[in-house]
Amino acid sequence: MVCTPSLDATSLETLLAAAVAAPSIHNTQPWRFRVNPDTHALEVRAARERSLPMADPDGRAQHLSMGAAVFNLRVAAVHLRRQPEVRLLPDPSEPDLIAVVRLGGAIGPHDRSRRRLDLYDAIARRHTSRMPFTGRPVPGPVVMEMSEAARAEGARLRLPDIAGTRRLLHLTAVAEARNHASSSRTAETRAWITPPGSDRPYGIPVTALGPPDAARRMPARDFTGPLPALHLPALRFERHAQVALLWTAHDRRKDWLQAGQALQHVLLTATAYGVRTSLLHQAMEWPDLRAAIGHPRRPCCPQLLIRFGYGPDGGRTPRAGGWETADRPAER
Ligand SMILES: Cc1cc2nc3c(=O)[nH]c(=O)nc-3n(C[C@H](O)[C@H](O)[C@H](O)COP(=O)(O)O)c2cc1C
Repeated sequence: MVCTPSLDATSLETLLAAAVAAPSIHNTQPWRFRVNPDTHALEVRAARERSLPMADPDGRAQHLSMGAAVFNLRVAAVHLRRQPEVRLLPDPSEPDLIAVVRLGGAIGPHDRSRRRLDLYDAIARRHTSRMPFTGRPVPGPVVMEMSEAARAEGARLRLPDIAGTRRLLHLTAVAEARNHASSSRTAETRAWITPPGSDRPYGIPVTALGPPDAARRMPARDFTGPLPALHLPALRFERHAQVALLWTAHDRRKDWLQAGQALQHVLLTATAYGVRTSLLHQAMEWPDLRAAIGHPRRPCCPQLLIRFGYGPDGGRTPRAGGWETADRPAER
């Protein structure tokens, strides 16, 4: 690995630790990182071997996940008091090169790009929580800040009322039932669940899964199916869930990467205010249901449903280093 004065080993470790902490579909961590020996820039590349052909044939969710990692790199760069310079999809002849990130000029103590909220601190504290929430509503100003976070990245949050929420959860439940009925989709999902004691650095440990909703209102993804040993007793989820639909105006790879950055900006903003989050992606995995989620009068490209509220923290999920082998920082 080549380290320049502007990208030393300690900075690299800070950047990478932040990047790999990002959420990813089924914790596939579909990224790899490398320092370009000629330009000394940090490259984010797609790890195609960790894609989901059934749930995500176009790689849209994979791009959302990689976009979230890019956002964490930006936050970590600011934490290092350096201006992040990011180019998305910089080379059409290299489709797996997702982003190039450089540390630009120094950020002074009064620079406006230093965020008021400590999003860096939130990176390590954010975990998907699939547990029931208390039902205490998240205050309007916090929700507005989450909405502005999405907008800052070129995406939007739709905040539905009770009827709109019920509709989105119903479409998610329809998708969940279809996933359940598909043996190939169920097999793909289960392949990413890891049993207790496993040292696999990818996938979701059973300890991070949530219980089913006793009132059957919350169509959380059933990762394990009818395996009796993995079944948790049902609990009652919040009666009026708060959800936000993350959407973009267009549906190109660049939009997916922007949506991923928006997702992470929203999740870290929520975390900074003590708000827990979980994600419902099932309806996005069926083209007709995804289209139905789009607003009938104001068409949009739905990307992900975010559930938020107050409640217990989520269980921990493992992470791999994320380096291409030759680029792993030397032991110090
Ligand atoms: C694009 C995307 C889609 C996801 N979809 C779901 C989902 O449908 N259900 C769910 O429980 N978690 C979902 N997740 C959350 C991941 O399972 C989670 O991020 C991953 O297991 C890592 O755990 P962590 O978020 O606690 O770090 C999704 C995450 C991303 C980025």
